[in-house]
Amino acid sequence: MTRLGSPDAYYRRAKNQGYAARSVFKLQEMDKRYGLLRSGQAVLDLGCHPGSWLQYASQKVGRSGRLVGVDLQEPGVSLPQGSCFIQADLLELTPDQVRERSGVEVFDLVMSDVAPRTSGIKDRDAAQSLELTQAALDMALALLRPGGSFLAKVFFGPGVDDLIRQVKGAFKLGKGHKPDASRSASKEIYILGRGRK
Ligand SMILES: C[S@@+](CC[C@H](N)C(=O)[O-])C[C@H]1O[C@@H](n2cnc3c(N)ncnc32)[C@H](O)[C@@H]1O
Repeated sequence: MTRLGSPDAYYRRAKNQGYAARSVFKLQEMDKRYGLLRSGQAVLDLGCHPGSWLQYASQKVGRSGRLVGVDLQEPGVSLPQGSCFIQADLLELTPDQVRERSGVEVFDLVMSDVAPRTSGIKDRDAAQSLELTQAALDMALALLRPGGSFLAKVFFGPGVDDLIRQVKGAFKLGKGHKPDASRSASKEIYILGRGRK
């Protein structure tokens, strides 16, 4: 079992390949499995710092795509032309503010890797993660085009089943997924919604 915070093979691979974080391999795996990212898409990346998902997504959406990143902290990677970063607290940001600041009216994919600063107190961390992921889902429901997709991390705990139920109700397909690159010691899972109704 890999301890949280200790460098592992994914960490070293990310470093060697010039990615800002090992999280890139979780997105890469889920993209390969579910075909989430395509050329020309508009993608909203919630919790985008330090930027490995932005790096991966920019290769996939290409020059005709649009990437919008949101985080409390600026990403450590340079954004491709036509993309933008919104420095904001997801819990306070509104869909209209995203539209106004990015110039993008509707998105093909809303993905969230937002995670609270963990305290080590399992119930508190899970409750904060749930609140953030609910905010990510609310944002996605307001900004996704019909047929669009949602992908979001959440720490497993009370309320996650209800979140998955909401996703199943709002999308043609809703499910939870634990990528191989997610540390086995981590309580995180990813919730996927395909085909916004
Ligand atoms: C695991 S990191 C994301 C890693 C990123 N996907 C990558 O590949 O580089 C989680 C991010 O969530 C952000 N975050 C936590 N709470 C937030 C909030 N309330 N609003 C916006 N971002 C938040 C943190 O600042 C942190 O950068």
